Amino acid sequence: MKVFITGASSGIGEAVARLFASRHAQLILCGRDQGRLERVARETCARRVVSADLSQEAGQEEVLKVLREELPELIINNAGFGFYGETLHVSWEEQKRLIEVNMLAPLRIASEGARLLIESKRRGTIVNISSLAGEYPTPGMSLYGASKAFLTHLSEALDTEWAPQGVRVLVSCPGMVRTSFATRAAGQEVELGGVVYDVCGQGCAADLETDQTGEE
Ligand SMILES: NC(=O)c1ccc[n+]([C@@H]2O[C@H](COP(=O)([O-])OP(=O)(O)OC[C@H]3O[C@@H](n4cnc5c(N)ncnc54)[C@H](OP(=O)(O)O)[C@@H]3O)[C@@H](O)[C@H]2O)c1
Repeated sequence: MKVFITGASSGIGEAVARLFASRHAQLILCGRDQGRLERVARETCARRVVSADLSQEAGQEEVLKVLREELPELIINNAGFGFYGETLHVSWEEQKRLIEVNMLAPLRIASEGARLLIESKRRGTIVNISSLAGEYPTPGMSLYGASKAFLTHLSEALDTEWAPQGVRVLVSCPGMVRTSFATRAAGQEVELGGVVYDVCGQGCAADLETDQTGEE
Protein backbone atom coordinates (compact mmCIF):
# COMPACT_ATOMS: atom_id res chain seq x y z
CA MET A 1 0.00 0.00 0.00
CA LYS A 2 1.26 3.51 -0.85
CA VAL A 3 0.77 5.93 2.04
CA PHE A 4 1.20 9.70 1.72
CA ILE A 5 1.65 11.58 5.02
CA THR A 6 1.90 15.34 5.56
CA GLY A 7 3.66 16.63 8.68
CA ALA A 8 5.78 13.47 8.80
CA SER A 9 8.86 15.27 10.12
CA SER A 10 7.73 15.18 13.75
CA GLY A 11 5.09 14.23 16.32
CA ILE A 12 1.98 12.34 15.28
CA GLY A 13 2.93 12.24 11.58
CA GLU A 14 6.35 10.77 12.35
CA ALA A 15 4.77 8.16 14.66
CA VAL A 16 2.25 7.20 12.00
CA ALA A 17 5.07 6.93 9.42
CA ARG A 18 6.99 4.56 11.71
CA LEU A 19 3.87 2.51 12.28
CA PHE A 20 3.15 2.06 8.59
CA ALA A 21 6.82 1.34 7.92
CA SER A 22 6.57 -1.57 10.36
CA ARG A 23 3.73 -2.84 8.16
CA HIS A 24 5.85 -2.52 4.99
CA ALA A 25 3.88 0.34 3.43
CA GLN A 26 5.50 2.40 0.69
CA LEU A 27 5.80 5.78 2.35
CA ILE A 28 5.77 9.22 0.77
CA LEU A 29 6.64 11.70 3.50
CA CYS A 30 5.97 15.43 3.40
CA GLY A 31 7.21 18.20 5.68
CA ARG A 32 9.19 21.42 5.77
CA ASP A 33 12.19 20.58 7.92
CA GLN A 34 14.38 18.84 5.36
CA GLY A 35 16.87 17.46 7.91
CA ARG A 36 14.24 15.87 10.18
CA LEU A 37 12.25 14.64 7.21
CA GLU A 38 15.24 12.91 5.68
CA ARG A 39 16.11 11.27 9.01
CA VAL A 40 12.55 9.90 9.35
CA ALA A 41 12.64 8.81 5.70
CA ARG A 42 15.93 6.96 6.21
CA GLU A 43 14.70 5.22 9.35
CA THR A 44 11.39 4.20 7.77
CA CYS A 45 12.90 3.28 4.36
CA ALA A 46 10.50 5.75 2.75
CA ARG A 47 9.97 5.66 -0.99
CA ARG A 48 10.02 9.44 -1.40
CA VAL A 49 10.34 12.72 0.47
CA VAL A 50 8.50 15.92 -0.44
CA SER A 51 9.82 19.08 1.12
CA ALA A 52 7.01 21.62 0.89
CA ASP A 53 5.63 24.54 2.86
CA LEU A 54 1.86 24.01 2.84
CA SER A 55 1.18 27.64 3.72
CA GLN A 56 2.43 28.56 0.24
CA GLU A 57 0.78 28.06 -3.15
CA ALA A 58 4.02 26.60 -4.56
CA GLY A 59 4.23 24.06 -1.71
CA GLN A 60 0.64 22.95 -2.20
CA GLU A 61 1.18 22.66 -5.98
CA GLU A 62 4.29 20.53 -5.39
CA VAL A 63 2.29 18.12 -3.21
CA LEU A 64 -0.50 17.83 -5.81
CA LYS A 65 2.13 17.03 -8.46
CA VAL A 66 3.51 14.21 -6.32
CA LEU A 67 0.00 12.84 -5.71
CA ARG A 68 -0.53 12.66 -9.48
CA GLU A 69 2.79 10.86 -9.95
CA GLU A 70 2.38 8.40 -7.08
CA LEU A 71 -1.41 7.78 -6.83
CA PRO A 72 -1.40 6.78 -3.12
CA GLU A 73 -4.29 4.67 -1.78
CA LEU A 74 -4.01 6.23 1.67
CA ILE A 75 -3.52 9.95 2.30
CA ILE A 76 -3.00 11.26 5.82
CA ASN A 77 -3.52 15.01 6.12
CA ASN A 78 -1.70 15.52 9.41
CA ALA A 79 0.33 18.75 9.03
CA GLY A 80 -1.04 21.51 11.22
CA PHE A 81 -0.21 24.06 13.86
CA GLY A 82 -1.80 26.47 16.31
CA PHE A 83 -0.94 29.47 18.41
CA TYR A 84 -1.97 30.34 21.94
CA GLY A 85 -3.13 33.89 22.60
CA GLU A 86 -5.84 36.36 21.88
CA THR A 87 -6.72 36.74 18.23
CA LEU A 88 -6.15 40.51 18.27
CA HIS A 89 -2.51 39.84 19.14
CA VAL A 90 -1.91 37.51 16.21
CA SER A 91 -0.85 39.10 12.93
CA TRP A 92 -3.05 38.73 9.88
CA GLU A 93 -0.13 37.05 8.08
CA GLU A 94 0.04 34.35 10.77
CA GLN A 95 -3.73 33.87 10.71
CA LYS A 96 -3.64 33.42 6.93
CA ARG A 97 -0.82 30.85 7.28
CA LEU A 98 -2.94 28.83 9.69
CA ILE A 99 -5.93 28.91 7.34
CA GLU A 100 -3.72 27.70 4.47
CA VAL A 101 -2.06 24.86 6.41
CA ASN A 102 -4.97 23.63 8.58
CA MET A 103 -7.88 24.18 6.18
CA LEU A 104 -7.05 24.89 2.54
CA ALA A 105 -4.13 22.44 2.10
CA PRO A 106 -6.04 19.41 3.48
CA LEU A 107 -9.07 20.37 1.36
CA ARG A 108 -6.92 20.57 -1.79
CA ILE A 109 -4.96 17.41 -1.05
CA ALA A 110 -8.08 15.40 -0.19
CA SER A 111 -9.91 16.63 -3.29
CA GLU A 112 -7.05 15.85 -5.68
CA GLY A 113 -6.38 12.48 -4.01
CA ALA A 114 -10.05 11.49 -4.25
CA ARG A 115 -10.35 12.68 -7.86
CA LEU A 116 -7.34 10.58 -8.87
CA LEU A 117 -8.67 7.49 -7.09
CA ILE A 118 -12.17 7.83 -8.55
CA GLU A 119 -10.86 8.46 -12.10
CA SER A 120 -8.62 5.38 -11.89
CA LYS A 121 -11.49 3.34 -10.39
CA ARG A 122 -9.56 2.40 -7.26
CA ARG A 123 -10.61 2.32 -3.63
CA GLY A 124 -8.78 4.50 -1.13
CA THR A 125 -8.89 6.33 2.19
CA ILE A 126 -8.17 9.88 3.26
CA VAL A 127 -7.53 10.50 6.96
CA ASN A 128 -7.69 14.05 8.25
CA ILE A 129 -6.07 14.74 11.61
CA SER A 130 -8.41 17.22 13.25
CA SER A 131 -8.65 17.82 17.01
CA LEU A 132 -10.87 17.69 20.04
CA ALA A 133 -10.44 21.49 19.90
CA GLY A 134 -12.76 21.43 16.88
CA GLU A 135 -15.63 20.15 19.00
CA TYR A 136 -16.29 23.35 20.94
CA PRO A 137 -15.28 27.05 20.88
CA THR A 138 -11.69 27.54 22.10
CA PRO A 139 -11.06 31.11 23.35
CA GLY A 140 -7.31 31.69 23.46
CA MET A 141 -6.98 29.35 20.43
CA SER A 142 -9.99 30.67 18.52
CA LEU A 143 -8.77 30.28 14.98
CA TYR A 144 -7.10 26.91 15.62
CA GLY A 145 -10.32 25.45 17.11
CA ALA A 146 -12.37 26.89 14.25
CA SER A 147 -9.97 25.46 11.66
CA LYS A 148 -10.36 21.99 13.20
CA ALA A 149 -14.18 22.35 13.34
CA PHE A 150 -13.98 23.06 9.59
CA LEU A 151 -11.83 19.99 9.01
CA THR A 152 -14.06 17.69 11.07
CA HIS A 153 -17.28 18.80 9.38
CA LEU A 154 -15.68 18.80 5.94
CA SER A 155 -14.38 15.25 6.44
CA GLU A 156 -17.73 13.88 7.51
CA ALA A 157 -19.50 15.50 4.57
CA LEU A 158 -16.89 14.40 2.00
CA ASP A 159 -17.09 10.84 3.30
CA THR A 160 -20.80 10.80 2.49
CA GLU A 161 -20.13 12.25 -0.98
CA TRP A 162 -17.24 9.95 -1.93
CA ALA A 163 -17.95 6.65 -0.14
CA PRO A 164 -20.31 5.42 -2.90
CA GLN A 165 -17.37 5.87 -5.32
CA GLY A 166 -14.96 3.87 -3.14
CA VAL A 167 -13.16 6.69 -1.31
CA ARG A 168 -13.63 6.89 2.46
CA VAL A 169 -12.76 10.04 4.42
CA LEU A 170 -11.98 9.43 8.09
CA VAL A 171 -11.31 12.07 10.69
CA SER A 172 -9.32 11.73 13.88
CA CYS A 173 -9.93 14.17 16.76
CA PRO A 174 -7.16 13.62 19.32
CA GLY A 175 -7.02 15.21 22.74
CA MET A 176 -3.68 16.47 24.04
CA VAL A 177 -0.71 14.52 22.69
CA ARG A 178 2.91 14.97 23.81
CA THR A 179 4.58 16.45 20.68
CA SER A 180 6.25 19.74 19.78
CA PHE A 181 2.79 21.21 19.05
CA ALA A 182 2.34 23.05 22.39
CA THR A 183 5.88 24.43 22.46
CA ARG A 184 5.46 25.74 18.94
CA ALA A 185 2.01 27.18 19.75
CA ALA A 186 3.34 28.96 22.84
CA GLY A 187 6.64 29.99 21.27
CA GLN A 188 8.43 28.58 24.33
CA GLU A 189 8.71 25.36 26.39
CA VAL A 190 5.42 24.59 28.17
CA GLU A 191 4.39 22.06 30.81
CA LEU A 192 1.32 20.14 29.64
CA GLY A 193 -1.39 19.62 32.27
CA GLY A 194 -4.49 17.42 32.40
CA VAL A 195 -4.81 14.25 30.35
CA VAL A 196 -1.88 13.99 27.94
CA TYR A 197 -1.30 11.05 25.61
CA ASP A 198 1.98 9.83 24.19
CA VAL A 199 2.21 9.38 20.43
CA CYS A 200 1.13 5.93 19.36
CA GLY A 201 -1.04 4.71 16.52
CA GLN A 202 -1.61 1.00 16.82
CA GLY A 203 -5.41 1.19 16.85
CA CYS A 204 -5.51 3.70 14.02
CA ALA A 205 -3.36 1.64 11.67
CA ALA A 206 -5.27 -1.54 12.45
CA ASP A 207 -8.56 0.22 11.64
CA LEU A 208 -7.19 1.56 8.38
CA GLU A 209 -5.93 -1.83 7.27
CA THR A 210 -9.39 -3.27 7.95
CA ASP A 211 -10.96 -0.50 5.92
CA GLN A 212 -8.57 -1.08 2.99
CA THR A 213 -9.58 -4.74 2.80
CA GLY A 214 -13.22 -3.73 2.88
CA GLU A 215 -13.96 -6.01 5.83
CA GLU A 216 -15.91 -5.06 8.97
N1 LIG B 1 -0.29 17.43 19.86
C1 LIG B 1 -1.56 17.61 20.18
O1 LIG B 1 -1.93 17.78 21.36
C2 LIG B 1 -2.62 17.57 19.10
C3 LIG B 1 -3.95 17.37 19.48
C4 LIG B 1 -4.94 17.33 18.50
C5 LIG B 1 -4.60 17.46 17.18
N2 LIG B 1 -3.30 17.66 16.82
C6 LIG B 1 -3.00 17.81 15.39
O2 LIG B 1 -2.07 16.81 15.01
C7 LIG B 1 -1.35 17.25 13.86
C8 LIG B 1 0.13 16.98 14.08
O3 LIG B 1 0.59 17.80 15.14
P1 LIG B 1 1.69 17.30 16.20
O4 LIG B 1 1.05 17.32 17.52
O5 LIG B 1 2.34 16.07 15.72
O6 LIG B 1 2.66 18.57 16.16
P2 LIG B 1 4.16 18.75 15.60
O7 LIG B 1 5.07 17.77 16.25
O8 LIG B 1 4.44 20.20 15.76
O9 LIG B 1 4.04 18.36 14.06
C9 LIG B 1 3.43 19.22 13.14
C10 LIG B 1 3.80 18.78 11.74
O10 LIG B 1 3.12 19.65 10.80
C11 LIG B 1 4.09 20.15 9.88
N3 LIG B 1 3.79 21.51 9.44
C12 LIG B 1 3.50 22.58 10.21
N4 LIG B 1 3.39 23.68 9.44
C13 LIG B 1 3.65 23.28 8.16
C14 LIG B 1 3.72 23.96 6.91
N5 LIG B 1 3.53 25.29 6.81
N6 LIG B 1 3.99 23.22 5.81
C15 LIG B 1 4.22 21.90 5.89
N7 LIG B 1 4.18 21.20 7.04
C16 LIG B 1 3.90 21.90 8.17
C17 LIG B 1 5.40 20.16 10.64
O11 LIG B 1 6.46 20.12 9.68
P3 LIG B 1 7.90 20.82 9.95
O12 LIG B 1 8.30 20.44 11.36
O13 LIG B 1 8.77 20.17 8.93
O14 LIG B 1 7.68 22.27 9.79
C18 LIG B 1 5.30 18.88 11.48
O15 LIG B 1 5.73 17.77 10.76
C19 LIG B 1 -1.71 18.73 13.67
O16 LIG B 1 -2.66 18.85 12.64
C20 LIG B 1 -2.33 19.11 15.01
O17 LIG B 1 -3.25 20.17 14.86
C21 LIG B 1 -2.30 17.70 17.75
